[in-house]
Amino acid sequence: MTHRIAVIPGDGIGKEVMPEGVRALQAAAERFGIALELAPFDFASCDYYAEHGQMLPDDWFEILKEFDAIFYGAVGWPETVPDHVSLWGSLLQFRRRFDQYINLRPCRLLPGIKSPLANRQPGDIDFYVVRENTEGEYSSVGGRMFEGTEREVVIQETVMTRHGTDRVLKFAYELAQSRPRRKLTSATKSNGIAITMPWWDERVAEMGRHYPEVAVDQFHIDILTANFVMHPDWFDVVVASNLFGDILSDLGPACTGTIGVAPSANINPEGTFPSLFEPVHGSAPDIAGRGIANPIGQIWSAAMMLEHLGHQEVSVAIVAAFEAVLAEGDEGVLTPDIGGRGTTEILGRAIAERIIGQV
Ligand code: NAI
Ligand code: MG
Repeated sequence: MTHRIAVIPGDGIGKEVMPEGVRALQAAAERFGIALELAPFDFASCDYYAEHGQMLPDDWFEILKEFDAIFYGAVGWPETVPDHVSLWGSLLQFRRRFDQYINLRPCRLLPGIKSPLANRQPGDIDFYVVRENTEGEYSSVGGRMFEGTEREVVIQETVMTRHGTDRVLKFAYELAQSRPRRKLTSATKSNGIAITMPWWDERVAEMGRHYPEVAVDQFHIDILTANFVMHPDWFDVVVASNLFGDILSDLGPACTGTIGVAPSANINPEGTFPSLFEPVHGSAPDIAGRGIANPIGQIWSAAMMLEHLGHQEVSVAIVAAFEAVLAEGDEGVLTPDIGGRGTTEILGRAIAERIIGQV
């Protein structure tokens, strides 16, 4: 079976880290005998916008829906296209139209990378944030009245549906069940947000009845953020609504060091539509063009993509490969953001060689 993958580098360092993501993918495919068909596309970038006046071709949905997954770099070049135009015109279209209702981010302290939290070692921080990606607090229900007058009123409603909540909870429980610790933490705020959040808690408890082996706890979002910093070792899988998950999925990876290594997945678990895998970082205009961007966020995203496509052992091998290269700590190989003098390509090649050379 051949996996068909759409490859979209996007803008800035997206174009520099993507070749290393592809190199790792091809190394893994060769090493483990997986058939991959990689199809590159130049749309969903600001260069495409400059030429065509839009971020995507009119038939993008028809083109991309045929793929098994989308491998994405980064979008954004604020000098030429405003960020809300480039983001809404590309990534957010994919997330919505392909119903990628899970946003998944691993938060894991890697060897050789210093956590901004004091005295934390690899193994101390190793959890996932599962964010609801389609509804909740980010709704378009609401409006303004009496604009510009003393009576000005503004309302934006949180929208939580049983369908939308239960499916993200199910995914989170399944993930927790598949991990050794079998622990799920729910982000709530049922003391202050006294209608939707007690209901969210009820749905967490209800879904939990199907997963008796998973230990569940919950924290209000305010103390939960504090505990991410003070006790990151408490967590295994953390599930959250769209807003809370947005905050936690930036805070979690931040606790593990550089943004350059963090990956993310936007998943449609049923596979009705392709899921999308991308580094957490953006196009980094400040370092773009210099060939020094860290490619590990892109490479780790490739590992998540292969796991989603059913190749768990290959995913593990890719992660082991970059962990081994990081652990060696060769300054000539590592990129400057993690204390080295190497380049995107040097680090990418070292990781690909390690993938192929693994026993
Ligand atoms: P950014 O993530 O591009 O950069 C933030 C800082 O981290 C910069 O100093 C950058 O040099 C550094 N950095 C990022 N990735 C790195 C890597 N791989 N290696 C070494 N250093 C790295 O975020 P920023 O500057 O806020 O946004 C720049 C553009 O990217 C904007 O147009 C923004 O809209 C877009 N963006 C796109 C995202 C996406 O495609 N999912 C996510 C975040 C921002
Ligand atoms: Mg965010």
